[in-house]
Amino acid sequence: MLTVDNLKNIKGKVVVVRVDFNVPQADGKIRDDNRVRAALPTIKKLVSEGARVVLFSHLGKVKHKEEPEVVAKQKAKNNLEIVAPRLSELLGQKVAFSSETRGEGYLKAVKALKDGEVLLVQNTRYEKGEEKNDPELAKEWASVADAYVMDAFGSAHRAHASTYGIPELLKKEGKPVACGYLVEKEIANLMRCVDVKKEDRPYIAILGGLKVSDKIKVIDSLLKKCDKILIGGAMAYTFKKAMGYETGLSPVEDDQLDYARACLKEAKGKIVLPVDSVVTNAFEGWTEKRVVDDNVPAGFQGMDIGPKTEKLFADEIAKAKMVFWNGPMGVFEQKDFANGTIAICKAVASLKGAFSVCGGGDSAAAIKEFGYKDSFSHVSTGGGASLEMIENDGHLPGVDILK
Ligand code: 3PG
Repeated sequence: MLTVDNLKNIKGKVVVVRVDFNVPQADGKIRDDNRVRAALPTIKKLVSEGARVVLFSHLGKVKHKEEPEVVAKQKAKNNLEIVAPRLSELLGQKVAFSSETRGEGYLKAVKALKDGEVLLVQNTRYEKGEEKNDPELAKEWASVADAYVMDAFGSAHRAHASTYGIPELLKKEGKPVACGYLVEKEIANLMRCVDVKKEDRPYIAILGGLKVSDKIKVIDSLLKKCDKILIGGAMAYTFKKAMGYETGLSPVEDDQLDYARACLKEAKGKIVLPVDSVVTNAFEGWTEKRVVDDNVPAGFQGMDIGPKTEKLFADEIAKAKMVFWNGPMGVFEQKDFANGTIAICKAVASLKGAFSVCGGGDSAAAIKEFGYKDSFSHVSTGGGASLEMIENDGHLPGVDILK
């Protein structure tokens, strides 16, 4: 696979770069510009070589099957133009913006670029054909490109027109397609969690979050790779119910109980579940909070792992040479239920000489919020993408197409 360093003689050439500027936003402002910053090394490199850089990204979801007014609302909410001024500040140069995603306006905006200049194109998902990998759309987008760089790690699990269709076409035309620095770094770090070396054992995975059904494939894959899997968060209650414990009002997926039972059998002791929980009498507006052991009483629901589990998990993590973490241990957004997630951060921070990866999404947000970002060897910019990388033994469509 080529990297951005292998692209030669790109002065004056149009390089289309797929970035992941799917940033969290509130009131029309960027809440966290981490993903914009993460793409800077690749953009700067191309600019320094005198390339004419055309950036594509999606932002949020646009459901084209909805009524036209609803689609218009979703588009207004996910207008990528908010990123242009921030990118310009971070790059220290002007960033042009094309509000047209195809047609004359798009072609004109690309044509107006001079060497070393940057153009950001409006949200790729404004186009109905993006998520369907429509060949006509990919053809139009690719028509301006002399080369393509994939630096959207967070979107590499999507075979869309901008992540898959463009490089597929350019390859056929004999034009170079390469990965950017961010994708290169993500792959190198996550591959270590996929192809496990002897010296990285014990390898411990920590999984949390809401649903077992979202994590079945990753659990199955990790069972083959890891020495232990610590499961917290709401998904732990489906396992606890499968074992015959009371789970009260905790969010259990009843249709996953058979899977959970089979999984525990197959795991032969590799899966470690909470032994206590912080519970409340309601999710919102609760009036009673307690710590309970294995059984959650009727009328109560689990909101975080309890102190005994914090210790149990921390003791397991202390033995690790490698850690992969995805998903918070509790409702960490509320101070009362953040202790379990903080305990995981602390346990990883105490490791000496171990390799630790946080697989993006909510756990990455938690690490940042609690000030533990630098305690991890790698914090991925892609939630879904890093999980799929583990699930599919290192394969992602947006990366495989570059090979
Ligand atoms: C993400 O935020 O995980 C990526 O940007 C992918 O977004 P998507 O799930 O909407 O494709």
